[in-house]
Amino acid sequence: MKVFTTKKDLQHYLQQCRNSGKTIGFVPTLGALHAGHLSLIEQARQKNDEIVCSIFVNPTQFNDPKDLEKYPRTIEADTALLEQAGCDILFNPPVNEIYDDNEQWHLDIGEPEFLLEGKFRPGHYQGVTHVVYILFDIVKPDFAFFGQKDYQQFMIISHMVEQLHIPVKLVMCPIMREPSGLAMSSRNVHLTADDRKHALILSKTLNWVKDHFDRNKTGQLQNEAEQMINAEKDVELDYFEIVDGDTLHPADENSKKIVALVAAKVGKTRLIDNVILDHSS
Ligand code: PAJ
Repeated sequence: MKVFTTKKDLQHYLQQCRNSGKTIGFVPTLGALHAGHLSLIEQARQKNDEIVCSIFVNPTQFNDPKDLEKYPRTIEADTALLEQAGCDILFNPPVNEIYDDNEQWHLDIGEPEFLLEGKFRPGHYQGVTHVVYILFDIVKPDFAFFGQKDYQQFMIISHMVEQLHIPVKLVMCPIMREPSGLAMSSRNVHLTADDRKHALILSKTLNWVKDHFDRNKTGQLQNEAEQMINAEKDVELDYFEIVDGDTLHPADENSKKIVALVAAKVGKTRLIDNVILDHSS
């Protein structure tokens, strides 16, 4: 695997790949890699000749400085995992390779910026769209791979790609889970043994809602799901919402795609998860 830390060297190498007719698949990450990330690399390998993974703990998407500070950084283990997974290129830039000192960014993302995660993490999606825009501009991938785990992030990046006419095809990959049902996340390392038990209420409740799904009863299901999660010890619910997968507004009879999304603090760690309940289009 080739490792680049400067955009100039990466771009030079990728241009050679493109000149020899190779397609480029891209998997952007914050590092602290787990099997969820590696599943994106695997999907990228199936569709592309050259796979680029970026590891960049993007400061602008962390609204809480403490969260940024304690975000796990495991570059050596990550490098070994990427080698094993057959990744071709790792891009691991320092902050000043990505951002110029006075760089400004504002993208009109519309309402989804302020719903769900946006309500609890002000500015988060400006930071995410900014870094993904810069990374796309450097890598110029044919395909880019993102997880359903961050459903709202995928939706917002899709809007950006359409809005700014960025020539990349986005692929949404399924959520990888631990055998217990817990969605894999870099933040899971912060969970204590007890937290891990309590955290299962999130995936359990999502599954329960999926099993009992009825288009005409989304309000009632949402209430019951909230009660189930609120009854769990050491779990503090931020939201459980059943929404239209395209607008993130409450699902209604016209919704083509319906998604249940949850966010909660388990002990000291904030977790998110979701399930697609209906996709009738
Ligand atoms: P990060 O949280 O590292 O996630 C990188 C990618 O891995 C995202 O597309 C995310 O949805 C996916 N992912 C995380 N957990 C997963 C799981 N359990 N199963 C499948 N995919 C999973 O998301 C980010 O980084 C950043 O916001 C980023 C897009 C890199 C911009 O900085």
